[in-house]
Amino acid sequence: MSTKTPPYWKGTNVVLDAGWGDSGKGKFVDIGSQYADVVVRWAGGPNAGHTVKNEHGEFKFHLMPSGIFNTLCILGDTVVIDPHVLLEEIDEMESRGFPLTPLNLLISADASLILEWHKHRDALTETARGGKKLGTTGRGIGPAYSDRTERTGLKMFHLYESNFEKLFEREFRWQSKLCKLMGGDHEAFDYDGMLAHLKNARERLKPMVQNVIPLIWKMHDAGKNVLGEGAQGSLLDLDLGTTPYVTSSHPTIAGFGIATGIHANKVKRVLAAVRAYGARVGDGPFPTELFDKMGEHIREVGHEYGTTTGRPRRCGWFDIIATWYGARVAGATHIALTKLDVLDDVEEIKVCTAYEVDGQKYDARNLPTIKPRFLDKAQPVYKTFPGWQVSTRSVKKFKELPIKAQKYVLFLEKHVELPIKFVSVGPDREDTIAR
Ligand code: IMP
Repeated sequence: MSTKTPPYWKGTNVVLDAGWGDSGKGKFVDIGSQYADVVVRWAGGPNAGHTVKNEHGEFKFHLMPSGIFNTLCILGDTVVIDPHVLLEEIDEMESRGFPLTPLNLLISADASLILEWHKHRDALTETARGGKKLGTTGRGIGPAYSDRTERTGLKMFHLYESNFEKLFEREFRWQSKLCKLMGGDHEAFDYDGMLAHLKNARERLKPMVQNVIPLIWKMHDAGKNVLGEGAQGSLLDLDLGTTPYVTSSHPTIAGFGIATGIHANKVKRVLAAVRAYGARVGDGPFPTELFDKMGEHIREVGHEYGTTTGRPRRCGWFDIIATWYGARVAGATHIALTKLDVLDDVEEIKVCTAYEVDGQKYDARNLPTIKPRFLDKAQPVYKTFPGWQVSTRSVKKFKELPIKAQKYVLFLEKHVELPIKFVSVGPDREDTIAR
């Protein structure tokens, strides 16, 4: 597979998102995974959502890596897996003529399981936050990761332990007690139903569950093409994002290292997808958010609705400070600027070049923190660009873009301080300008 690999995709590389997620990295994983010997997903779980279109049809995935139709994919150690969701996705693929085997999907034995109580606790915790809810996807992500850091909860390998039923019973009792203490309805859990479901999942997933790190290392050490597939975005990183309005995993290059033991300095390129404008779903600070008709226009043209929850995404202008920061913590070496075509009809485009807080100006280099205690007060300072107002959809070369669009892209490149390697001007693989 590696023989015809373009130089860009040789070796161990990562594609991730340097914003608040959903920036269109799936397309670049699709491109990169054509050449990959293995794709490793490391962040989040069924909170993610991506659509994959190909000759088998259109698929809406949450857990399945986007590279699944192209090469061997691995759900890594730090992914949290809801067996219901995974089996549904496997069934969907099988019913459309793409059966899954260990030759195309492997699941880490150390991945944590998301079970009913995690979703229940997710909802209870959101209620307990009162007016300060995070707007989670409700998929049980936070509670599954908190069990992981508490060193409790069931992992994939537990399904195959000889005392699994005992482990399940203990877990059931503990989680029921926890939910009751949290004020939930612990009677809601169906012991027999859950156990039967897990036994079914155990049988079906058995050929794919294994210790994945030795295989990843073997491929990396042999110079094969290993591609890390990100999920969510670096501004949603548990620690370095807009905490607490973040997810519970590490969507940055550090997260790839935690999951695989391959450290950042051993990764050749980190391609960060960034939209040509701003967007986020869920609550939390977003200084360049638009509440007017322009925000609605971007949402409609950009189809900015969550794949997992269907929620309308909040839309706004490109934010150089947040993107510079997001790309830096992502460990990005290059940018894939996505959805440029969404701005085709816009008369005047704004870019946030600084924040003003309490009369003082801040740019990316003197940003005190990305946390809400600062960002909530940040007033964006904008530079205005004339829109190009022609379609960029069929453009294949950078020099063929309207001059105004070129100027816009070059301005972003200069100020984000990273090369924009790809510009995406439409959803299909062909709608991509490589530079
Ligand atoms: P959780 O990951 O479900 O706990 O949600 C925490 C925050 O992360 C919420 O604001 C979600 O909307 C956001 N989030 C989680 N996963 C994604 C994603 O894949 N794309 C965009 N936002 C996400």
